[in-house]
Amino acid sequence: MAKKILILSGSPRKEGNTKTVVNWVSEGAKDLGALVEIIDVAGLDFQSFGCRACMGCQSSDKFECIVEDEVSKILVDIPSYDILIFATPLYFFGPTAQLKAFTDRMYSLFKYNEQTKSFDHNLEHITLGLVSTGGGSDFSSLNQLFNIFAKFMGNNYESLLIPFIHSSEKLKNSESIRQKAIIFGQKLLSA
Ligand SMILES: Cc1cc2nc3c(=O)[nH]c(=O)nc-3n(C[C@H](O)[C@H](O)[C@H](O)COP(=O)(O)O)c2cc1C
Repeated sequence: MAKKILILSGSPRKEGNTKTVVNWVSEGAKDLGALVEIIDVAGLDFQSFGCRACMGCQSSDKFECIVEDEVSKILVDIPSYDILIFATPLYFFGPTAQLKAFTDRMYSLFKYNEQTKSFDHNLEHITLGLVSTGGGSDFSSLNQLFNIFAKFMGNNYESLLIPFIHSSEKLKNSESIRQKAIIFGQKLLSA
């Protein structure tokens, strides 16, 4: 069966550098038969920007956020994917606020288990990935953040970090970065 990939793209620039790279990653994965969905997280209609800690998700046995907005509809489908990619420009050494607002809402996909003193979830089968572009090259905090997230879920982790992007036009015409991103997209399927 074809693998399903969800790419959550968190740049406020809808067709910016991160999206350019995301499109190439998607191309690589699709070449090998994957089904890829790209969601522009920064364009979502958030009723709650980030988690408001109402704990509504923790008081039911469903892995669902009780806030009624577009974000909740996406969250509930995440367990149906094989690969989940977070894509973000590097903003002050971390993800954009828009992507962080989304990942905080992922609290609804975890439930604290008093007996095991750990979180139950349905995400064990998912490979987690990060795609990022930056004007500089210090992706260490961002990369560590998502690597820890993957470990927390007990998942594989892959990242594609593209530094020193000073011109969107140059990036669009860079055959070497395009190839790197396509290979990353293909590699995801065997991760
Ligand atoms: C608010 C803001 C913060 C940024 N912080 C960093 C940073 O900490 N390190 C870095 O290398 N680049 C930083 N940049 C540059 C962006 O990461 C870079 O231009 C990126 O390619 C933009 O991607 P986009 O076109 O998808 O938005 C920052 C840009 C902005 C607007």
